[in-house]
Amino acid sequence: MPAAKVRKAVFPAAGLGTRFLPATKAQPKEMLPVVDKPIIQYGVEEAMHSGIQNIIIVTGRGKSAIEDHFDVSFELEHLLESRGKKDLLGIVRQVSDMIDVSYIRQKEALGLGHAVLRAQELVGPEPFAVVLADDVIEAETPCIRQLLDIYEFFGAPVLAVMEVPPESISSYGCIDAEPVSHNGSKNKVFRIRDLVEKPKQSEAPSNLAIIGRYILTPDIFESIGKVEPGAGGEIQLTDALRHLLRSRPIYAFKFEGTRYDAGDKLGFLKATVEFALQRHDLGAPFREYLKNLVL
Ligand code: G1P
Repeated sequence: MPAAKVRKAVFPAAGLGTRFLPATKAQPKEMLPVVDKPIIQYGVEEAMHSGIQNIIIVTGRGKSAIEDHFDVSFELEHLLESRGKKDLLGIVRQVSDMIDVSYIRQKEALGLGHAVLRAQELVGPEPFAVVLADDVIEAETPCIRQLLDIYEFFGAPVLAVMEVPPESISSYGCIDAEPVSHNGSKNKVFRIRDLVEKPKQSEAPSNLAIIGRYILTPDIFESIGKVEPGAGGEIQLTDALRHLLRSRPIYAFKFEGTRYDAGDKLGFLKATVEFALQRHDLGAPFREYLKNLVL
């Protein structure tokens, strides 16, 4: 039987953004712009280009700017129309026409697992993607699409992973896994044996870190409901996956592409520079400017 189609993507966006204070005191970190587009829009476009039709954003207090961003702005559209600014009007409309977006509140930031559980009613009994917008991924084939291909083949949950330096593994979920050969490649798909959230370097089973893209099946909700608070006192998605692993296989995929941790100041700067250099309207003058910097 073919795997059920993935139509929905959940974007947990209720975190407090403490890594980016003071910029995130009064504005959601998901709205910080990389060049001229909010971080979350990169993730929404990735989902859309992967064939996903419905976006579910789990928001919290002070996140109304996200809803406004994906909503129609009559005043702005009217102003741009009356001034004949067709290009800008197109950009603004493209955002609100983009996709079907629904919202659900996570009243307290109790962890990633808890945020995903909040989306249960909107997701319903079908498989879905989870996108952590902080992880901006540039790839020829959108990362979610890459994971969907693996999901469709195995009919099982799939997590995105990448190798990180051993000293960084304690910032991530980490997997213990055995490679599975798939489509002629031997070291890209893994069957997960175990997984642990933010292990100490000395206790990490590998240097394969979970990156913020997941294809999940609806049985994850029951597992989330069963786990106790873990790392940082939060309900962790990694712990729920560990629980789910007892009853079904879970896979990991070393995706192709470059990932920026845009929720971190240095990662955000790197993403900004790289994305600006690739823009045809900004790339050339920006490159010239950078060349003349005394470093
Ligand atoms: C979350 C997940 C972690 C994953 C990371 C990827 O952690 O809990 O397993 O490795 O995202 O960005 P956070 O960065 O929200 O602490």
